[in-house]
Amino acid sequence: MHNYNWLDTEREALEQVGLLRQLRNVMSAPTGTINLDGRDVVLFGSNNYLGLSTHPKVIAAAVQATRTFGTGASGSRLISGNNELYTILESNLAEVKGTEAALVFSSGYVANTSIIPVLAGEGDLILSDALNHASIIDGCRLSRATKKVYQHCDLEHLKTLLSESHAFQRRLIVTDGVFSMDGDIAPLSDICDLAARHDAMVLVDDAHGFGVLGADGGGTVEHFGLEGDKIIQMGTLSKAVGALGGYIAGSRSLIELLINRARGFIFTTGLPPATLAAANAALDIIRSTPELRQRLFSHAKCLKTALIDVGYTLLPSETQILPVVLGSPQRATRIAESLLTEGVFAPAIRPPAVPSGTSRLRLTVMATHTEAEIQQAIAGFASVFPKFC
Ligand SMILES: Cc1ncc(COP(=O)(O)O)c(C=O)c1O
Repeated sequence: MHNYNWLDTEREALEQVGLLRQLRNVMSAPTGTINLDGRDVVLFGSNNYLGLSTHPKVIAAAVQATRTFGTGASGSRLISGNNELYTILESNLAEVKGTEAALVFSSGYVANTSIIPVLAGEGDLILSDALNHASIIDGCRLSRATKKVYQHCDLEHLKTLLSESHAFQRRLIVTDGVFSMDGDIAPLSDICDLAARHDAMVLVDDAHGFGVLGADGGGTVEHFGLEGDKIIQMGTLSKAVGALGGYIAGSRSLIELLINRARGFIFTTGLPPATLAAANAALDIIRSTPELRQRLFSHAKCLKTALIDVGYTLLPSETQILPVVLGSPQRATRIAESLLTEGVFAPAIRPPAVPSGTSRLRLTVMATHTEAEIQQAIAGFASVFPKFC
């Protein structure tokens, strides 16, 4: 079996530079305290920002949908028939996003890798923020368009690249709305102004803004008071919505084109009915319960202030994502392990998820964390600080 020996060599190489990832067993639901490998720890690494994946109404909707429709979709939406739960969900999404229509995909990753090749191809230019999510990077690769990366949130750089872009047939600017590993918000109004001046399209990935930003939880576009029909909005149902799936919200023509051209839509099985029903129930709660967002941001502020008081340096995040940058992957992993012994699960994030030299702990708060859980996290961080910092 020597032709497979390279697998061991590659694995060892990853371990030596502190980049070997390992799975841990979670033996409970993603609430503020979880059972991790048999031990209770407070969870500060979940994207279940509003706690909706365990909301009784969401669970009841999922159970009911399973009873009515069974567990699986049994085929692709075009071939095996489109479950009516999709129609309800897509119309709810379009409403909250302020667009004509929406289309749900199997995941956010699939939504990005599906839409980008539909919007841009050979002869077109994609301008992509340096800190965009991997699914955007992969979507750009699949598109075969020319890609240029602009420095993170740097409008001057974006402007320069746009002013040099007129030989290309179409221009697409793509950005995270809330940056997944940094927690800052893209300057979307300014990006849209630049796009309008240079006849470019804008695609915003609102994975971490949806449900969280805006009075109704509509996300980054609502946060900036922009008109939904000027921007193509991508998002996911796997984070604040607490379910699974990605979506694109935009014009009716865009959605019809995606139904006909997006390979990640056409050539895969639909989502389980329980997931669609859960997302629908969660959307109702998101729109009717602004207190969840208030509580989330109040927790984020409290944790951020306390960690800075202890002595940690945090990136200037404006959201529920609080990055403590530590440098090398080994250092980030050691501190994460040490926190775990204090009963705090705050996973280390290492390259390629973040640029080299910026390995970090990415803390995420949930609206459903209790005060005691937040205090436990602060105490854990305070206790490991003298050992490493
Ligand atoms: C910014 C961003 N876009 C897209 C995705 C992919 O979403 P999903 O997990 O639903 O595939 C993620 C998730 O990690 C993300 O952080």
